[in-house]
Amino acid sequence: MLKLACCLLAVACVSADIYMHNPRGSNNRLNERSANRANGNRAFDSQNNNRGGYNVGDATDEAAQNEAQQYQMKFFQSGANAASHLAVEWTNQHGCGGNEDDDPHKVNCNIVIQYMCQPAEFEGNAKDRLRDGLNTNRQDYARPRSNLESRSAFQSRKNNNVKDNRVLFETFDWYDKCFVRERNKGLFTADQNLRTNNGLGVSSAIYTRQNRNGDRRGYECPEERDYYPYWHPTPWKDIAILAENATICSHYTKKSFNVQHYGECVEYYDDTQTVRRHSSKYNSHCLCETVPGNRWVDFYNYLEKAPQYDTETKCIDARLKDNIEYIWQIPYDSVDAQSKECLVPLPEPECMEAPWTRVNHNGNTRDGVASNYTWTLPYFPSGSDQRCILRVRYNISTDDYDPYNTDHTSNRKVVGGTIVRESPITGNPTVDIGAGLSPLRLNINTAQFGRTFQDRSHVFHLKPRPTELADKTIYNLNVRGKRGNIVQTYPAVEYDFIPNDLTLKANDVVHLQWTGSNTHNNGNPAGDGQAGDAGQGQGGTDRHNFVQILDRNHNFPAPFEATSMWDNTEVVWAYSAGLVGKNPLNTALNVATSGYYECSTECSESVGSKDNLQAQLNNAAASFEGLVLKMSPGKYHYMSTRNNAFTNRSQKGTITVVAA
Ligand SMILES: *[C@@H]1O[C@H](CO)[C@@H](O)[C@H](O)[C@H]1NC(C)=O
Ligand SMILES: *[C@@H]1O[C@H](CO)[C@@H](O)[C@H](O)[C@H]1NC(C)=O
Ligand SMILES: *[C@@H]1O[C@H](CO)[C@@H](O)[C@H](O)[C@H]1NC(C)=O
Ligand SMILES: *[C@@H]1O[C@H](CO)[C@@H](O)[C@H](O)[C@H]1NC(C)=O
Repeated sequence: MLKLACCLLAVACVSADIYMHNPRGSNNRLNERSANRANGNRAFDSQNNNRGGYNVGDATDEAAQNEAQQYQMKFFQSGANAASHLAVEWTNQHGCGGNEDDDPHKVNCNIVIQYMCQPAEFEGNAKDRLRDGLNTNRQDYARPRSNLESRSAFQSRKNNNVKDNRVLFETFDWYDKCFVRERNKGLFTADQNLRTNNGLGVSSAIYTRQNRNGDRRGYECPEERDYYPYWHPTPWKDIAILAENATICSHYTKKSFNVQHYGECVEYYDDTQTVRRHSSKYNSHCLCETVPGNRWVDFYNYLEKAPQYDTETKCIDARLKDNIEYIWQIPYDSVDAQSKECLVPLPEPECMEAPWTRVNHNGNTRDGVASNYTWTLPYFPSGSDQRCILRVRYNISTDDYDPYNTDHTSNRKVVGGTIVRESPITGNPTVDIGAGLSPLRLNINTAQFGRTFQDRSHVFHLKPRPTELADKTIYNLNVRGKRGNIVQTYPAVEYDFIPNDLTLKANDVVHLQWTGSNTHNNGNPAGDGQAGDAGQGQGGTDRHNFVQILDRNHNFPAPFEATSMWDNTEVVWAYSAGLVGKNPLNTALNVATSGYYECSTECSESVGSKDNLQAQLNNAAASFEGLVLKMSPGKYHYMSTRNNAFTNRSQKGTITVVAA
């Protein structure tokens, strides 16, 4: 009876939680034509509802069959002295923000925003290449037979399990390391009975209070997922922590792996200590070094390596010349765990109070805008193109026990079948309310009393800037949402531009770019929502375009002759070189057709040289790499002709350009 009640509770708890809308969060989707995702364990543990999430972008008007046909957003990096801004937007369901005195909130909450990149010209093991994959299967995993398996046994285990056509964010090595390393036994696990790895003799970091059975999602490490800041090196770079209150910010910024090194036990395959094992069962300095040959090593996080400086002197001397505070340290992914390398350091993450949101709402902040954070994209001094993903975690805890100071000493302790110490929280307790034998039952699942949700983007690129953009402040202007009406898309959202109110200076530029899918049919299974893909044009397809309207309240675009925007706009960069410069008609035509035409006459993609554009953009591509626009002062309103529909959905925005 009790068991059944727990199961029911667990199911009821899997509901709307955190959804990233820009860049598009996958919520573990890939290209499903159904409203439900096919596999909630595909890449990471979201703990979200099966609905929601956005499909990977398609580069053309057809569903991608291979990786080259998937569209990866291409954002320009910041420059040495000029920022690129990207609006990260999400909704979270249980509320966040507020302050203790005059606005007490109902949950404690923090939001952690991070990213992970690797050079697009990746030279490492092809099995470790960051990718979205072509099917919705999760990567395979087979456990090591012993903690001391040979190098060749490890390599063949990895080769046999990692499939090239499946999603890969964290590497196989990362998960394996987590599988082998003993979990942090100092953590509060309440009355949860955490399992042990059969045969390896430990209860490892794949078991946590929130994941007592060690379920696997992609190659994510559960202990790392549940806790932040993590106490071992991780492949993640921190962007920002939106905290419960500002007081706790110094804790986060000081302990971020961006700026604080963390240790790990290093073991070697042989006595010459040249090739390090990727894993060790020891999770502490003292236990590690009880075994001869093992060493506890402090590792450093970094933005990228600077291998051209191959000695400490060269590395440190280059600081002044390059104006970068290089560090000479052992990187977290070092092969031998002893050679120092020249590294471009990461800045402290930003920390501020989380935006206030209403509980049980999955909606806007108090300001009437969705929760958002403007990410100033990193600058990679090497000038290399990077392949990246973005991760946002939403963590809620309660004050029923002190969330920061309750540890293993409060865990339920059972000796010989008898509970000798009870946890401060237990599953579905009944409480006496003074009615004698009629206590009331509370809904408490100790695995979820204090819980972390997550969403991640699909793969995108951070591209080096072409010289014409070297000193420009760049604002990314994108589209969020997917096809369908409000109930069909929920908890994802309908289409809109983002940011849809953008103010910039006359010497700043806007990178207009969007992505869409051809498989957003939102069909069955639709879980606990409605199936369907209400909208214009061919079913299941996302299409966007950009045309000027003269008033935000209008739904008819201005005829080209009446537009003010294009005479005032210069194309500073374009995916196709022929579009660069000042050519009002061609620019207007290009963005109005989602790149279908590049000019009216005299170019290869001209109006005369192609089949006619279908009036609802069906034969245009779902994604548009875009143009970088520089505009003269003025206020410009715009909309998407295909999707904007007065009573059904609005897809409009405004760019305000002020004098420099
Ligand atoms: C979530 O909050 C708890 C405090 O209850 C903290 O121990 C944990 O590290 C946090 N996890 C994340 C991912 O922020
Ligand atoms: C801020 O949050 C921390 C962690 O929950 C708490 O210990 C502290 O009392 C809070 N400070 C304020 C001013 O609310
Ligand atoms: C982000 O949130 C801030 C604060 O609420 C708001 O002023 C801003 O307009 C929001 N930006 C976007 C793109 O929604
Ligand atoms: C709005 O949606 C309804 C229901 O899907 C549909 O019948 C109607 O034609 C749509 N209106 C417009 C202007 O697209």
